[in-house]
Amino acid sequence: MYDWFRHMRDTHPVWFDETSKCWHVFRYSDVNRVITDYESFSSERRQGAFARTRQTAIATEATQDGRERRAGRSIIAMDPPQHRQYRNLVSQSFTPRALARLSGRIESITQDLLDQVRFSGQMDMVADIAYPLPTIVIAEMLGVPTSDRPLFKQWADGLLNRQLSDAEFFRPDEAQQENPEIQRLRNLFEEMSDYFEEMLKERRSQPRNDMISDLLAAEVDGEHLSNEDTISFCIILLLAGHVTTTNLLSQAIRCFDEHPDALEQARKQPELIPSAIEEILRYASPVWRLSRITQTDVTIDSVTIPAHAPVFAWLASANRDERQFPEPERFDIARTPNRHIAFGHGIHFCIGAPLSRLEVSIALPMLIKQLPDLHVVHDRPLELFEGRTLFGFQHLPVTFTASE
Ligand code: HEM
Repeated sequence: MYDWFRHMRDTHPVWFDETSKCWHVFRYSDVNRVITDYESFSSERRQGAFARTRQTAIATEATQDGRERRAGRSIIAMDPPQHRQYRNLVSQSFTPRALARLSGRIESITQDLLDQVRFSGQMDMVADIAYPLPTIVIAEMLGVPTSDRPLFKQWADGLLNRQLSDAEFFRPDEAQQENPEIQRLRNLFEEMSDYFEEMLKERRSQPRNDMISDLLAAEVDGEHLSNEDTISFCIILLLAGHVTTTNLLSQAIRCFDEHPDALEQARKQPELIPSAIEEILRYASPVWRLSRITQTDVTIDSVTIPAHAPVFAWLASANRDERQFPEPERFDIARTPNRHIAFGHGIHFCIGAPLSRLEVSIALPMLIKQLPDLHVVHDRPLELFEGRTLFGFQHLPVTFTASE
């Protein structure tokens, strides 16, 4: 893929894919513009499969039980001014200051997970550490039982491994309602919505000190959020809160495996861990691309994209753009400056970035210290998630010297 990105940056930086009728941008400056300039590139107007399947799911449910309900909205698919109002409802929970009190808990979860594997000399980095750690943390923050983890995994895998073409993703029109993949996604959203519906009921009767209770108490323009909006919020926080960090942690291990000198450097100079994390985010960006819809005709690099066109902005390509990063193919844990856009940029900049950075900055040194001679097992090709949005492994088998 990275060779293709380089080729596209050099030859077709703004490219129209005739097959899917979608536009793609690859250069750092262009990607940055697409994700930042919300007046030209809307997040709200996306009629992605997510929004549509969910709408259909809820509409179906409404006809079955006679209730009038509309689809929930999610901050990731909102434009100003509404976006700011909704984002403010949760942003306080994710400031580095608010998160600092979670450090001890993150450390103890990591230690528990390590204690379950460090005597064995081998494990699956994804299943044993990288998946459970962020999932337990976000589940505790939200206030959903961590024992429901297998369910969250089922949902996340079901969404990540979706088999929709780019055209289907943007235009799941009525004819496609027969498409078994759309049906499957619909069922998945129904299941998640039902789960959170139950959680909301519980919290309404017994509020606790968690984000679900905070969301139920929150107001926008003097009104509480609708049930559907609250459910959407919970779903995005739960899903965005774990799969991406799982990918970052497992990519960290793979990057160090491929660059043993960097691992040695990080062992000797632990003060480089924060910049190493930034380099992993740049070099192996967990989110490959973001999508937007043009509001008007927009010209980029002398190419005019017409109004109402779907556009993919490739973060993974931007973060390897030689126009922005000297020697972009070099993995350099001391790289400065490192203005990668792995967490996006502008008004939609990842709200969970401080949480993710905190989790990995605590877990990574513990892994490096407690798992000597850590190596990825290369007996078969690593299985990547299907789909073109997130970049992560299904499994990452590793070996290390077992603790005595
Ligand atoms: C937004 C990446 C972790 C919650 C985003 C965006 C990116 C991103 C690229 C921008 C989306 C856009 O512009 O359309 C990542 C990466 C992560 C990570 C690479 C980890 C390595 C998290 C965590 C949470 C989270 C831990 C926790 C809850 C969100 C939310 C948004 C978002 C709610 C929407 C923000 C908005 O629209 O204003 N993330 N994320 N993310 N992320 Fe993350």
